[in-house]
Amino acid sequence: MESAREKALKVGAKKFFLEDLKKEFIEHLIYPAVQANAIYEGVYLLGTSLARPVIARAMIAVAEREGCQFVSHGCTGKGNDQVRFELAFYGLKPDIKVIAPWRLPALARGVKASVSEGTVAEKAFASLAEFYERFAGRAALLDFAAKSGIPVVQTAAKPWSTDENLFHISYEAGILEDPDTTPPDDMWKLTQSIAAAPDTPERITLHFEAGIPVKLDLAGGKSSVTDAVEIFMTLNKLARKHGIGRIDIVENRFIGVKSRGCYETPGATILRRAHMDLEGLVLDRNVRSLRDGFVTTELSKILYNGYWFSPEREFVQSCLKASQKVVNGKVRLALLKGNVIVEGRSSETAALYDAAESSMDELGGFQPTDTSGFIKIEAIRLSKWGLAREKEGLTT
Ligand code: ARG
Ligand code: SIN
Repeated sequence: MESAREKALKVGAKKFFLEDLKKEFIEHLIYPAVQANAIYEGVYLLGTSLARPVIARAMIAVAEREGCQFVSHGCTGKGNDQVRFELAFYGLKPDIKVIAPWRLPALARGVKASVSEGTVAEKAFASLAEFYERFAGRAALLDFAAKSGIPVVQTAAKPWSTDENLFHISYEAGILEDPDTTPPDDMWKLTQSIAAAPDTPERITLHFEAGIPVKLDLAGGKSSVTDAVEIFMTLNKLARKHGIGRIDIVENRFIGVKSRGCYETPGATILRRAHMDLEGLVLDRNVRSLRDGFVTTELSKILYNGYWFSPEREFVQSCLKASQKVVNGKVRLALLKGNVIVEGRSSETAALYDAAESSMDELGGFQPTDTSGFIKIEAIRLSKWGLAREKEGLTT
């Protein structure tokens, strides 16, 4: 973080603010995502999307405190982050103005009309115009940074762009833009390779209350962690050691283009697996189906597309909360060579699971003959359909 301060002041910032948003990130964004089993296009756990509302909220708070009219970001004009940041800025402070240097021509019209001559804003605008004319793309920008002594992580040896937070890291662009290029082994930063991971499983137990992780037992229950940040960091550490959480995908960005990305999401991969498993034990079938089909899908889309500060997020989150009341209990897991293996689960409030009723070894709850009627009724429609097909001479 110290290098961020140095860099900011060196490139001309007047003031530098550093805020610890870990707890807010975990409790306000990561936990709802865990409760919802949030996932984009079946694979991406949304690590970058989740961080944006927290960063945007903190930026706007500083802008309010310092009396700023403008905020800025360095996102390209082709990605999701520009949309996420800006929708959040406008939702939080409708009168804020946004400077997005990569999209200067579009910005020029709006800003030029609203700055008065001789002001700091006007000067900033003039240098941004110059910036835009000089930089055609990332390569030109990196070249300028190197010449001007502005430290940038991307180097010739690591030709890709990353976004890292405590939930995940993303790798995109550069050599990864060819979707058939295998990422080099030394690209992966947050997890050990499966080959290097230990051969023996490590056993942990995760406890949930209302779908939120509240305790993590380690070393066969000899020690536990209960603080939100500590639980999450410990899971990250364990997942890293066991090579858990790497993916390599091609996704559809909100603006409509496809993009190849590699991601490491260590701790959250464990959390998702455990939470989904516990839901199997405690959640009503139809509530689960509605949650999967509506809340999971919609919240994931809201997060990916950048609509966190929106009425639909509030609405979907209230449904999510209602679905999680019963998600209490614990899940026992073994971590081994990239796998999160569920070994058992239990809940003191599991009212719906009845071992005698489900048993295939004994009678219980209802008579097997009751099921004959159930199947007969369910088959009425299918038999009709079968008959019609027979008449048409169709076979299955
Ligand atoms: N494609 C991912 C997403 O849209 C990751 C974006 C990474 N952002 C970045 N500024 N490097 O969530
Ligand atoms: C960027 O465009 O700056 C990063 C990638 C993205 O937002 O999708």
